[in-house]
Amino acid sequence: MNKFQIRTAIYYGVESLGYLNGLAGRRVLVVTDAFMASTEAMRRVLAALQGSAVAVFDRVKPNPTIEVVTDGLRFFMECPPQAVVALGGGSSLDTAKAVFKVAVEQGYSDVEFIAIPTTSGSGSEMTSYAVITNAATKEKMALVSPDMYPDVAILDPNIVLGTPPRLTADTGMDAVSHAVEAYVSKHHTDFSDAMAEKALHLLFEYLPVTYVESDNLAARERVHNAACLAGMAFENAGLGIVHSISHAIGGTFSVPHGRLNALIMPTVIEFNAGDLRVSKSPISATALRYAQLGRMLGSATASTRNQVAGLVSLIKHLRRDLDMPERITDLGIPPYEFVAAIPTLAETAFNDHCTPGNPREAGVEDIEALLRFLI
Ligand SMILES: [Fe+2]
Repeated sequence: MNKFQIRTAIYYGVESLGYLNGLAGRRVLVVTDAFMASTEAMRRVLAALQGSAVAVFDRVKPNPTIEVVTDGLRFFMECPPQAVVALGGGSSLDTAKAVFKVAVEQGYSDVEFIAIPTTSGSGSEMTSYAVITNAATKEKMALVSPDMYPDVAILDPNIVLGTPPRLTADTGMDAVSHAVEAYVSKHHTDFSDAMAEKALHLLFEYLPVTYVESDNLAARERVHNAACLAGMAFENAGLGIVHSISHAIGGTFSVPHGRLNALIMPTVIEFNAGDLRVSKSPISATALRYAQLGRMLGSATASTRNQVAGLVSLIKHLRRDLDMPERITDLGIPPYEFVAAIPTLAETAFNDHCTPGNPREAGVEDIEALLRFLI
């Protein structure tokens, strides 16, 4: 028996922050970071919450730690709110989710959870995951709980208008990697495929536009919607070893998640597709899936084998359009440090929660070889 469910109501478009007007008369906790608290996005949110009693927890940090979550939980208990509004990128949403999960376990039920993403990438507004870092071991832990689904996601393109190009590229390529990984995942379905396909159509068309025209409201809206669709796809289908390897490298070296994914993706596609050079050998089911994506995104080549290469080249082309690095050495990581870390990185990636969903079995030695290929 199979099930596909979307738990979160989506309010989208330029008027969607108006949903917050309905919280008038209630105690509302806004969870965000110090920078976001000083921005136009926060001003808009506070204006929409004018009739509410608002408390702001603005101590979220990038790669949120257990300590930040504990701090947020203490703040929550002092309020305690009737609604939580998480405003930010993946870190603020993940912190709010973790706080929310513990609060529910402590008996704080009937609290509405509203996610307002300020980047177009993580898809966190649609997922039951939160990634929290253990500061002592640098280990990233994935929390998963149905309690962490936001009740409402607000996708207001005005909130992401003017996002700087670098952040636009990094977060946008994270969304691309969500859609591509969900599309070939062991657990993909017709429903997750539909969302991944639409997300990729939108991202390939509009992400380069938002990269060069940060104030293009129409393009921002499409990319914002696409990131959410990609979030729905991977929430249901899962991810693969692009994310496993990215989590491992990102836990050791300080590099934005989406930038790493963009760098890793072509290598993993070639690994997952298998050897396509021998023309008489059978083509794997995964290679066929990649070829479908290549065809869908406009790869001009005729044969299925060449369409896998076509998808890789479309992704590399998009990466170049976004001025993104192609090798680990371009990220400022000293090669000798990376090489020394490879055995540990491979082990960490192998044990990552995304590895079982990868369409091709990948052992520690396979992942080591892939890591070496990235240098
Ligand atoms: Fe991601």
